[in-house]
Amino acid sequence: MARVQLSPALTATGTYPFVKLEEAKRRLAAQGVDLIDFGKGDPREPTEAMIRAALAASLPEISTYPLAEGLPELRQSVARWCARRFGVELDPDTEIIPTYGSKEAIFLLAQVLVDRDGDRRLVVTTEPGYPVPDRGAVFAGAEVLQLPLLEENGFLPDLDEVDAATWNRAAIVWINYPNNPTGAVAPLDFLKQLADLSEEHGFLLASDEAYTELWFADPPHSALEVRDRGNVAVFNTLSKRSSMTGYRSGFAAADSDLIGALKQFRPSVGTAPQEFVQRASIVAWNDEAHVERTRAAYRRKRDALLPTLDRKGIRVAGSKATMFLWLEVPEGETSEAFATGLLDHGLIVSPGTFFGPAGEGYWRMALVPTEAECRRAAEILEQAL
Ligand SMILES: Cc1ncc(COP(=O)(O)O)c(C=O)c1O
Repeated sequence: MARVQLSPALTATGTYPFVKLEEAKRRLAAQGVDLIDFGKGDPREPTEAMIRAALAASLPEISTYPLAEGLPELRQSVARWCARRFGVELDPDTEIIPTYGSKEAIFLLAQVLVDRDGDRRLVVTTEPGYPVPDRGAVFAGAEVLQLPLLEENGFLPDLDEVDAATWNRAAIVWINYPNNPTGAVAPLDFLKQLADLSEEHGFLLASDEAYTELWFADPPHSALEVRDRGNVAVFNTLSKRSSMTGYRSGFAAADSDLIGALKQFRPSVGTAPQEFVQRASIVAWNDEAHVERTRAAYRRKRDALLPTLDRKGIRVAGSKATMFLWLEVPEGETSEAFATGLLDHGLIVSPGTFFGPAGEGYWRMALVPTEAECRRAAEILEQAL
């Protein structure tokens, strides 16, 4: 029988690493192993009651297609939030567009900016990292350059390692701070330097800021704060800030040219959040009290684990913000072997190599289990390590 053809981009990207964890999880659960899952970064915190109530109250009798440009009230809430949080003024009509979570918008950005037959078809990303910008770039026919995030550089890419000719070929340079998986944060000077490079070389600095609200010491900076220096686009989301992964609600903010391009592109894709989700999102962006409670919950989970890790000589690297602990693998072991070993004790963690070759030597715990489970995991680690 003649088979249909698959996109070479699909073959090139391989299995999404977390699919492998899901498989291991199903296998162990079938064997009756009691598992605590620190693998995928999907928060299992309850969504605030008032947000759920707003969603329910907004369910219409007749539900029509949501417009790509989103509800003006939602764009205004986002603009007010950006002003409160980062001290920047955005025009809600021309500089903000709602997105269906941030993943799809991150994946699709290369479709809007890359000319696969042109001279500027490079997309720069960082690794270890969230794989979505890279995958989106591959499907858009771009060439991808991954810059390593090394601990000796504070898990920031070494910008001096990239020559001017490379910057000149870049359509997009992606950064993600606070960073998944390392938990590192970016100093404002680093953002300024990259924004200046974007101005000088004509690429878009695309900043994935999914974790700006999960911090423990000082509130992290946004690339919005340096938008006047260059070509900057920011992607943020309610998924982590408001524990709303299932709702699918985020936004992109950029200058009116790029937001105009997204308004032109996105109606063909159909990824505007449902209007009832947009109405619930307004309530979420307008409130900080629930975000403070969420931060406190993650802090308690960290505190439940850190003393044991310290006692067992497991060094914490990065991990200044986000819901992740980025931990060093004990001497003489590989990331993959170490993570597989913990599976036998009922703990699912991610080997650092899931996120790229520079993740070797590390493992990641996503602090998504309950506080009680984190305490139980600390007891397990006490025995296992
Ligand atoms: C670094 C990073 N960016 C973006 C996202 C996308 O989140 P969402 O699509 O839920 O907004 C995630 C989700 O895990 C992430 O880790």
